[in-house]
Amino acid sequence: MNIVFMGPPGAGKGTQAERIVENYRIPHISTGDAFRAAMKQGTALGLEAKRYVDQGLLVPDEITNGIVRERLQEKDCENGFLLDGFPRTISQAEALDGMLTAMGREIDHVIDLHVDRDKLLARITGRRICRSCGATYHILFNPPAKEGVCDKCGGELYQRADDTVEKVGTRLDEYINKTAPLLDYYQAKGKLRKLNGEQDINAVTEEIHSILRGQAE
Ligand code: AP5
Ligand code: MG
Ligand code: ZN
Repeated sequence: MNIVFMGPPGAGKGTQAERIVENYRIPHISTGDAFRAAMKQGTALGLEAKRYVDQGLLVPDEITNGIVRERLQEKDCENGFLLDGFPRTISQAEALDGMLTAMGREIDHVIDLHVDRDKLLARITGRRICRSCGATYHILFNPPAKEGVCDKCGGELYQRADDTVEKVGTRLDEYINKTAPLLDYYQAKGKLRKLNGEQDINAVTEEIHSILRGQAE
């Protein structure tokens, strides 16, 4: 099961990925999470990525492709993978095709979570993330039982540095200019499955499950 989740910032890629990987024994590979981890550790990759991530800009393709190429070689990807937020440019998609061809594999589904731009700002500015386990919450739409504390592990919740109103504007522009053209790329390959990401979180999860079971219309 080789899956790609697409969608604008705040569409629910990470939220849905957390749920889907619990059901299929595949790793959740988020390039955004990988960059944030490297930034936290202060590695050379992290310092380079920070120049872009903090501005809400896409990290250059060569850097991003290198991370994914290495990650896909790891043993836990043998049964498949769920890519969240990669590819995000046509050139990344072409690189991914090359990596998979070399591995004798291909993408099964590209799932596009569609959410209108005016809904995304509220989602992003209300997001909170667990510092320990990475679980995602929303202060209104998916609040933890106790404010500021993760339900799953008791960790502290924090807000991402790029989740400000001004950075979100840049991130959305990057999405429209560089990532949205990929929808046509995957449509042409017959891989694209669009779904309404404005439904509540459980309804979206159900739709994804039915696509993965091959039962969706
Ligand atoms: P990344 O971390 O991937 O950020 P993003 O694409 O902007 O997406 P988000 O993580 O903000 O949104 P999401 O879709 O995961 O939404 P979530 O589930 O959290 O990338 C960050 C940066 O890294 C980029 O800006 C770039 O610099 C760099 N980068 C990453 N990948 C790259 C690449 N391939 N190439 C180049 N650069 C790259 O949900 C959002 C909120 O809404 C949460 O609070 C959640 O609880 C809530 N929510 C979710 N679903 C629903 C629902 N159905 N109803 C109501 N609320 C909901
Ligand atoms: Mg995410
Ligand atoms: Zn946690």
